[in-house]
Amino acid sequence: MKLLEDKIMAEGLALSDSVLKVDSFINHQVDPVLMQEIGRDFAEHFKDAGITKVLTIESSGIAPAVSAAFFLGVPMIILKKQTSKILNENFIQTNITSFTKGTSYELTLSANYVGKGDTVLIIDDFLANGEAAMGAIRLATKAGAKIAGVGILIEKSFQKGRQRILDAGYDVYSQARVAKLGEGLIEFVREDD
Ligand code: G4P
Repeated sequence: MKLLEDKIMAEGLALSDSVLKVDSFINHQVDPVLMQEIGRDFAEHFKDAGITKVLTIESSGIAPAVSAAFFLGVPMIILKKQTSKILNENFIQTNITSFTKGTSYELTLSANYVGKGDTVLIIDDFLANGEAAMGAIRLATKAGAKIAGVGILIEKSFQKGRQRILDAGYDVYSQARVAKLGEGLIEFVREDD
C-alpha cells in the first residue's frame, strides 16, 4: 500500500537491522486519516471472504482493526493481554511468548463474542516472528471460528512470521513489506521479488 510505504519512508526510523520505530503514526501517536485508508484497503482486499468479525491484539492493532471493521460492516474484538479478575466471563486463553520483547502473556478472548459460525480476519500492526498472529489464530480456532486471513500493516519480511502463517495454511496480506532495515535504511520488498 503506497500510502503506508510513503509514511514509513517519511516518518519511520530504523533503529537497528531489526527494529522499525513508527511511534509518530502507529504505536504512540495515531494518524486517523491513515488508519481510515488502511481500514478501507483491508476491507477491499478481504471483501469476498465472508468475514463476520475482525480480531486484533491490544493495543496498537486496535486503530487499524476498528477501521477495517467499519468498512467491512462487522464488529471488532480486542484480544486482551491481561484478564480482568472481577469479570467471570467465559474465557478462552493461549500463551504467547514474544521473542522481540522477551515477554510472555495469556492472550484472552471471551467465547461470548466469537464462536461457531464466525469467519474472522485477524489484524495486527507488526508481523515479526508471528507469535502474536499464530496465538490469535489458535484462540479463534479454539472458539470454533473459521480464519479468513491475517492482515498486517508492517511485515518484517526478513523474519519468519509470514512463512509460519503460510505454512500453517492461512492467507497473509501485508500492506507494507520491509525487506531490509539498518541504521537509517529502510527497503521494501519489490512487487516482482
Ligand atoms: P515476535 O513473534 O517476534 O514476538 O513478534 P510479534 O509479532 O509477536 O511482536 C511482538 C511485539 O513487538 C508486538 O507489539 C509488535 O508490534 C512489536 N514489534 C515487533 N517488531 C517491531 C518493530 O520492528 N517495531 C515496532 N515498533 N514494534 C515491533 P506488542 O507487544 O503487541 O505491543 P503493542 O501492540 O501494545 O504496541
